[in-house]
Amino acid sequence: MSDSLAIEEVTAEELYQQLRRGEPLFILDVRNEEEFSHWRIEGLPPSALVNMPYFAFLEDEQGCLEQIPRARNVTVVCAQGGSSAFIAAILAHQGIHSRNLQGGMVAWGNLHVTTTISSPDESGLTLLQINRVGKRCLSYIVASGSAAMIIDPSRHLERYRILVKEQQTTLTHVIDTHLHADHISGGPEMAGLFGVPYHIRLDDAAGAKFPYHSLDDGTRLALGSSVVEIIAVHTPGHTPGSTSLLINEKYLLTGDTLFVSSIGRPDLGHKAEEWARQLYRTLFERMASLPDDVLILPAHYAGAAEMRRDGVVGITLGEARLRNPAFQVRTEPEFLDYVLEHLAPQPSVYQEIRRVNLGQMLFDEEHALEAELGPNQCAASLPPRS
Ligand SMILES: [Fe+2]
Repeated sequence: MSDSLAIEEVTAEELYQQLRRGEPLFILDVRNEEEFSHWRIEGLPPSALVNMPYFAFLEDEQGCLEQIPRARNVTVVCAQGGSSAFIAAILAHQGIHSRNLQGGMVAWGNLHVTTTISSPDESGLTLLQINRVGKRCLSYIVASGSAAMIIDPSRHLERYRILVKEQQTTLTHVIDTHLHADHISGGPEMAGLFGVPYHIRLDDAAGAKFPYHSLDDGTRLALGSSVVEIIAVHTPGHTPGSTSLLINEKYLLTGDTLFVSSIGRPDLGHKAEEWARQLYRTLFERMASLPDDVLILPAHYAGAAEMRRDGVVGITLGEARLRNPAFQVRTEPEFLDYVLEHLAPQPSVYQEIRRVNLGQMLFDEEHALEAELGPNQCAASLPPRS
């Protein structure tokens, strides 16, 4: 292998944009089989994503090289970008056009992509959706005039700080729609850093080791002096304190209550039946009065199929009522049977993450990275209704 060949690198953001544009990519993932089966880059046809573990590659370099299409530009991926750089160099030496994913899957898991849902309209509303692609986590910035609030931020606070500044706004509130179990919330820390109130509903925040304001049903949140109307709507079921935010009667930020094609799993507190009953009432009673044209904006998604052409993950409530399998079940007993039958085992780390999000324990960076690896598993795995 020659050391003189410079290895071409691609950032996670560049790779994501190329995937979105449908460019003909070929990804060689050199992590071990277990890591690959747990979590991988999505959005490619199966033939364009191949797993050849690093050590298997070194043991049988020639055999592995024969399986790599020479005519393609090969993107090599590993956990942190080290061993993939080494393999990319071997490929380059063999005359194969190759490049290395800078920072590997750690960088992929930390990539946050921002999409504008609403630019300032007559009410002055700006609504941004921040997609943490690798985890399929969504957070939001709502801004008007000189004020902004952040909803469900990840722990990567710098991304949000830059966005708030770019909007020429000042942060006035931080909100978590519920106590998250799949990722570490940046909410309490962000609120502390900026000296602004942190909101989460009491039912979910009991035992929290940091100050918070309970987000009660019907609370109207003021955004500076603007006319943007933001109302908290208690929508329990995924958790008892789950709260959605209705913005200008046009957008409903649903947290993990209602997704594009599923609903939030009700079993994370080991009270699956009780919480599933709450979820039924939320969907069929609490949300019944909302019009069909309200745009549902969730805190998670299941894959690229739930993304609109413009990159926004969302669905109108009317479409969800027609297409989301959870809405096809009409009676409460039928709903309970259907949901409770389709709950995958929850990752054991979720209980620890909940404690971290209450400030009851702390992860160091290494543990935080490990705990957050892979896509969220917050949805009930509902199959289509026949
Ligand atoms: Fe959740």
